Amino acid sequence: MTSRDRTGHNASDLGSVESWLVSAGRDRRPGLPLNVPPCPASNFVLGERRAYSRDDGTPSWEALEEIVSGLEGGSSVSFASGMAGIAAIFDQLHTGSVVALSDDCYQAVAGIAKAGQSRGRWTVHRVAVADTARWIEMCGVADLIWLESPSNPLLTVADLDAICAAPRKRGAILGVDNTFATPLNQRPLTLGADVAMQSATKFIGGHSDLLSGVVTVRDANLLAALRQARELAGATPGTLETFLAVRGARTLALRLERAQCNAMTLAERLARHPNVTLTRYPGLASHPTHAAARRQLKGFGTIISFDVRGGASAADAVCAGLQLIQHATSLGAVESTIERRASIPGQEHLPPALLRLSVGIEAVEDLWTDLDRALRNVAG
Ligand SMILES: Cc1ncc(COP(=O)(O)O)c(C=O)c1O
Repeated sequence: MTSRDRTGHNASDLGSVESWLVSAGRDRRPGLPLNVPPCPASNFVLGERRAYSRDDGTPSWEALEEIVSGLEGGSSVSFASGMAGIAAIFDQLHTGSVVALSDDCYQAVAGIAKAGQSRGRWTVHRVAVADTARWIEMCGVADLIWLESPSNPLLTVADLDAICAAPRKRGAILGVDNTFATPLNQRPLTLGADVAMQSATKFIGGHSDLLSGVVTVRDANLLAALRQARELAGATPGTLETFLAVRGARTLALRLERAQCNAMTLAERLARHPNVTLTRYPGLASHPTHAAARRQLKGFGTIISFDVRGGASAADAVCAGLQLIQHATSLGAVESTIERRASIPGQEHLPPALLRLSVGIEAVEDLWTDLDRALRNVAG
């Protein structure tokens, strides 16, 4: 890690990433609150460095940016949401650009790509996440290469080592949506990507109570351009949301460790369940990109996708039958959530009985009892 906190500490001076998460982003001047409080201000008394918060930020954004800068190993810009950050990246493209986009990705990203293409702003090529040769080829021709790894919701892991090392078209941006992995499991900038993106709404916030996005880069020009895009579009993060995201980040390592451990146990049991026809989890040896996951990821994450025997109606019945696991969208929080992804408009191409389970920090045996009961009731 190279980032410094406001007192000049280097992330590596603080030891492990767990210590950085707990200690970074604080203003250590005597007499100030230990935790940077939310600062509900649009404008400031003129004369000092801040005039207007859309342009100049608030202390709580800066705390979040400092933490994520250290985690990802670059300089971070926080946004109102993950999508606001991704929109700022697409905003960098000139008319006539070429975009290479994962075939499996968050639907709103596909939506931005499609909308820009239909307005004649760029051409989009969808690339299978595991098709390394095609990604390498696209690196030579695309102006924006946008990958999700592991992808949402099929959890395919791209060979980021090979793709990031491939020669890129001059001025091209290679971005990795690092939301599913989190910077604790994967640091795309260190592999050679230009952008690492987090929907901080998910694991960093971790409590399903905020929207936030953070984009991290190494290039100073791109950093300035993203800050300007945020300012001009007004895609500014809320001060309360960034305060909450910082509070969430303090426990990220603990939450991830527990939820990941739960996920491995549940994935192994789901894979053997008579009413599950397919279990996708990068940590399972049966996963098609398990080898890349082992090579690249420090942990396999907390998301499992599995197909319920009996089709869409059976999968819906499983969701309805669960008591502990919440039937809700989104992911990465302390509570486990589950959703049939093909029920979402624009996601009809997905397997109809696929349930995406975001595993939380509950006791694993309670989660298993809940899942097993709901799955068995459907069969009966
Ligand atoms: C992988 C991924 N990237 C980006 C986003 C968008 O983030 P946000 O909802 O914070 O705008 C999501 C949202 O679910 C996501 O799952």
